Amino acid sequence: MKQALERIGQCAKSELDSIRDSKDLEALRIKFLGKKGELTAIMKGMASLSAEERPVIGQIANKVRSDIEEAIEKKANELKAAAFELKLKEEKLDVTLPGKSRELGRLHPLDAVMHEIEDIFIGMGFDVASGPEVEYDYYNFEALNLPPDHPARDTQDTFYISDNVLLRTQTSPVQIRVMEQKKPPIRIIAPGRVYRSDAVDATHSPLFHQIEGLVVDKGITMGDLVGISEMFIKRLYGENLKIRLRPHHFPFTEPSAEVDMECFNCGGKGCSMCKGEGYIELWGSGMVHPKVLKNCGIDPEVYSGFAFGMGLERLVMRKYGITDLRLLYENDLRFLGQF
Ligand code: DAH
Repeated sequence: MKQALERIGQCAKSELDSIRDSKDLEALRIKFLGKKGELTAIMKGMASLSAEERPVIGQIANKVRSDIEEAIEKKANELKAAAFELKLKEEKLDVTLPGKSRELGRLHPLDAVMHEIEDIFIGMGFDVASGPEVEYDYYNFEALNLPPDHPARDTQDTFYISDNVLLRTQTSPVQIRVMEQKKPPIRIIAPGRVYRSDAVDATHSPLFHQIEGLVVDKGITMGDLVGISEMFIKRLYGENLKIRLRPHHFPFTEPSAEVDMECFNCGGKGCSMCKGEGYIELWGSGMVHPKVLKNCGIDPEVYSGFAFGMGLERLVMRKYGITDLRLLYENDLRFLGQF
């Protein structure tokens, strides 16, 4: 019996050596130590032993059992450690790998500059007004002192939808819509899309953006126009740049002027940005024509005002040194990602 016990002990140990996972280990435990296991079978035979033999064999049996238990536990720990090691290896995190970057959206340069300009005017007490892009001929032309046969209509190649409905060629009709609704004091800008049937090239697009401005109150003069122009440039470019007024003609203003600003790039010396001129055009402007005020029911004997209109694309192109207008509309992320 003693030999049988010792053989079981050795057997268990040598079988343990080849165990590779916890399932096999459990099977081994049942085989040797379970209720129907080999050791139990031998223990059951102890009843037939003599009173002297029984404690001796009992002791050996207990020793074999506890040895096997110990060996199993040791093996279980080894297996657990190995499994953990393997998991660590498989789930290894290389913190030096570049992360997966998430593409963040951002404002289109046209929107970004538009917002900047809106903020500047809001800071000077202006409201932001808007009007329809599909507009009546009356608002786009007639009320702005451009009757049907006016030659200046030819300079704005118009998309007509019907005889009296068109895609607005300028943001100036918003002036009329605002003055019809609201009596002075009026201080608004009106940014938005405008349309002209131009062929697409590096400097033309059938769709572009303008920002209109209108101030009407008692005692408004050209001096206010100059002051607002200077303040706007200072806020946009952060510098005191000189302005100059060139006489011009617009049907809805009298007198009219093109406002130029000293080139922000060279400070007036002349460079490629201003084509050697030292000045660049800021906007078309003038004192609101008395006929236009009258068309909106505002008495030109009591009130006066100035208006201006600028092109957003040109401003953005100058700001970022963009030489082809089409880039602003193609939505190529390689281009847009630079802003
Ligand atoms: N609407 C004109 C254009 O598209 C720009 C303009 C000039 C607007 C003078 C004005 C203004 O309000 O006073 O060419």
